[in-house]
Amino acid sequence: MNSDKPDLPSEAELADMDRDELSRLGARLDGVEVVEAPDPWPVKGTRAEKRAERQIAFWFTLSALAGLAFVVIFIWWPSKYEPPRDEEFQAYYWYTPLLGLTLGLSILGLGIGVMSYTKKFLPHEIAVQERHDGGSNELDKATILAQLSETGERSGIARRSLIKRSAGAGAGVLGLGLGVFTLGAFVRNPHAQSEGPDGLWHTGWQNPPGSTEKVFLRRDTGRPGEVSLVRPEDLDAGAMETVFPFRESERGDEHKLLLALQRADNPVMLIRLRPDDARRVIKHQGQEDFNYGDFYAYTKICSHLGCPTSLYEQRTNRILCPCHQSQFNALEYAKPIFGPATRKLAQLPIDVDPETGYFYAKRDFIEAIGPAFWERA
Ligand code: FES
Repeated sequence: MNSDKPDLPSEAELADMDRDELSRLGARLDGVEVVEAPDPWPVKGTRAEKRAERQIAFWFTLSALAGLAFVVIFIWWPSKYEPPRDEEFQAYYWYTPLLGLTLGLSILGLGIGVMSYTKKFLPHEIAVQERHDGGSNELDKATILAQLSETGERSGIARRSLIKRSAGAGAGVLGLGLGVFTLGAFVRNPHAQSEGPDGLWHTGWQNPPGSTEKVFLRRDTGRPGEVSLVRPEDLDAGAMETVFPFRESERGDEHKLLLALQRADNPVMLIRLRPDDARRVIKHQGQEDFNYGDFYAYTKICSHLGCPTSLYEQRTNRILCPCHQSQFNALEYAKPIFGPATRKLAQLPIDVDPETGYFYAKRDFIEAIGPAFWERA
């Protein structure tokens, strides 16, 4: 250990010192004794050195390409759920695995590149230093900068443009990927705003643009192809039935029928109030004609976090969500009266088709269904 303390230079002397002098002075001031500092590549430009350089560039390039792939997949890869279909490639299955794979590869490539560079090109110096307390003074800061700069130069980074460029690309694209990932969550999905029935603002009860076909209320019998429509006389007073949308044009189309049963925002509770209770109903402003007599249809998707509110208690006229015990009053437009939910359940406007006697939906919901945070989109 070096116990000799060098004399401190004056400000003028310090300003006149070159980088090597500052570096040596810094080491002496810190009581550092450099025991050994072999140059990792004493003979420059050998094939081994070039090979090491290419290996490091490979990892940085891999990091850049994987980061780029992450950005492309995050923005353009199909991520929308489709009900499973036999023998068909479902691209959305791969969305999350591909995001994880590409981001992981990008970080891994950058990490291996940095470690390899440190291992192969930075001088493997052995130094001994005495510990001291407190923060660094201006002199220490100036000298440490000089030492770091000297280390960088000795590693040959200035002339290793392949490594510099690939490392810059790797770090830059990975940074871009992380930026896209972070900011992407704040950007509304433009595809979800389409006017089609698949948009965020529409459910399966919405007809495609230009179609005026009646959307009937069907039950789920366990067999998608078996269509069972609902009539008023099917429900006793105080009963509840879960229903899904059905269009005559879809009869026989197993995939569309299955989709209607599986789409998350489709299930609706059709409730028939008891006559005494029906007389006490308070309707929501603007939705006074959404019911058909004693029949009221509410979305089954809880406005708290989206669980199915599958319990209807006839005695109290409460609709219960089993997830966090929210309760909604069926006599007051499904307003929340207990639990964490803060919004009413969306009501589906219904009527009965005079020709067939079956229930149908007059239109889609007029409010967003599901978790309350959707409202903020
Ligand atoms: S999801 Fe219904 S109460 Fe939480």
